[in-house]
Amino acid sequence: MEVRIMENAFEISKEVSSILINKVKENPHAVLGFATGASPVETYKRMIEAFEKGEVSFKNVTTFNLDEYCGLTHEDENSYYWFMKENLFGKVDIDYEKVNFLSGDEAKSEKSCREYSEKISQAGGIDIQLLGIGTNGHIGFNEPADSFSDGPFKVRLTSSTISSNSKYFVNKKMPEYALTMGIGDIMRARRIVLIATGEGKADAVFKMIKGEVSPSCPASVLQNHNDVIVYLDKESAKLL
Ligand code: F6R
Repeated sequence: MEVRIMENAFEISKEVSSILINKVKENPHAVLGFATGASPVETYKRMIEAFEKGEVSFKNVTTFNLDEYCGLTHEDENSYYWFMKENLFGKVDIDYEKVNFLSGDEAKSEKSCREYSEKISQAGGIDIQLLGIGTNGHIGFNEPADSFSDGPFKVRLTSSTISSNSKYFVNKKMPEYALTMGIGDIMRARRIVLIATGEGKADAVFKMIKGEVSPSCPASVLQNHNDVIVYLDKESAKLL
């Protein structure tokens, strides 16, 4: 696990966007795994800027997002699909046919979980998976548990996640359930880049990097992956 401690979120976003953009320049058909939440937003801004300057095109890229809330369709402004449209996809030349999401639509969610890992492998596997980390050590919505998951599944969100994310909900109570890629799906990505900023992440970051590998801190599993870069600001790195 390579750990890079940077001055601030802006400096992190310059490096992480370069990693993603260089991958797409090297292979325009790259497969990228995306995260939502606050952590990747600056990185997405740098990717949009690069697209606007004509430095990169995302039109042949295939994407897989980590997770989605149960009960929210693509049209719901609280959904992660909507978030990706607002923060990246709608501002670059992404081909929506190549965008993959677990379906928050209750009628489709079970099938989408069953098929997602297979879709990832049919696309050739994920070249780079972008991650954030929850204050409880979750990655995707793999909450602290007794064992590591493999494929996508429906998860009951913990009270810690509900209290961290409720503030983003507009006109609606945050769902208590979500669909998430499993730990196995995340670990099969060829390269993983994780971003954590702010003091609130310091404890989870410490456990991820220095703690024992345990499903009680799901992110600690990344110690077993051979190509992980963790980008931290000084606050999130303060216990290291
Ligand atoms: C989001 C996701 C989550 C977030 C994590 C951190 O798709 O999978 O694991 O990365 O909850 O969220 P932020 O970045 O908002 O602190």
